[in-house]
Amino acid sequence: MSSYPDVRLRRFRRSGPLRALVRETRLSLDQFVMPLFVAPESLRNEELPGMSRWSVEDVVREVEELVRLGVQAVILFGIPEEKDEQATGAWEDDGIVQRALRALRPRFPELVLATDVCLCEYTSHGHCGVIVDGEVHNDQSVELLARTAVSHVDAGADVVAPSDMMDGRVAGVREALDDSGFESTPILAYSAKYASAFYGPFREAADSAPSFGDRRGYQMDPANVREALRECELDIDEGADAVMIKPALPYLDVIRAVREAFDVPVAAYNVSGEYAMVKAASRSGWLDERQAALESLTAIKRAGADLIVSYWTKDLAQWL
Ligand code: PBG
Repeated sequence: MSSYPDVRLRRFRRSGPLRALVRETRLSLDQFVMPLFVAPESLRNEELPGMSRWSVEDVVREVEELVRLGVQAVILFGIPEEKDEQATGAWEDDGIVQRALRALRPRFPELVLATDVCLCEYTSHGHCGVIVDGEVHNDQSVELLARTAVSHVDAGADVVAPSDMMDGRVAGVREALDDSGFESTPILAYSAKYASAFYGPFREAADSAPSFGDRRGYQMDPANVREALRECELDIDEGADAVMIKPALPYLDVIRAVREAFDVPVAAYNVSGEYAMVKAASRSGWLDERQAALESLTAIKRAGADLIVSYWTKDLAQWL
């Protein structure tokens, strides 16, 4: 009784309702996070709507629509008016993200407001930390990242997500938050962030491409998975409340390995390049965007992600 012709796996595939009864993985909007770029001026991106920039005024309007559609969480990125060596725009009290948070917080008390904590959008050279003698200086960068996180929470952020890949930054951020009385604010650490080619459209949207060199001195080598587990372990030891793997689709094995090794919530970042590939192919008539997106996001969940950061979150709200 354990094989064909007694067993026929097609029996439960015969109709939509039968398939739904035995579906193992489901997408639900409350586990999705929509990235939003705030800037001094709005700049719509018609081809990649998820990569549009919003002024503080317009981001309020966009979030209104997202909330109306049922989106429960957003993550903010900032493009400052001016960039400098010390990434002043990242941590100053009236920085662009801080201003957006102060505008959004009182208007959307229920919405989860997460922030990306990094310096690359704010440094004149585009690296994720402070440059000393031609290299990104780890510990000085951590200090500024911690300051940035505190200023975000002070302005209304619910969750901070350090994405810089400096060593010890989770401990630095945790200590600074606790010292400021923010011991209840969770840290979502971009623990396994790879030096990836799939960040291209983001770097254009955020104007954060490094002006010299690349990020391989701090982001992870795409060839490594054991190292990803070490990164996650260290971040959890330092106080990370949840860990993130990024990008998502080319790293499903890493998501699975992290899921099996740790009990903390696991996030995956379905990055700009993953989104742009599907957009471009669907524009050429080569595949159906909605189906390809739903299949991609389902695969990321199936691999073991609890929550997903995705530029499709707004579309998903309409698709589901
Ligand atoms: C760094 C950061 C990056 C992304 C999120 N946070 C870019 C990078 O490391 O170069 C990429 C996200 C995406 O491609 O969608 N602040």
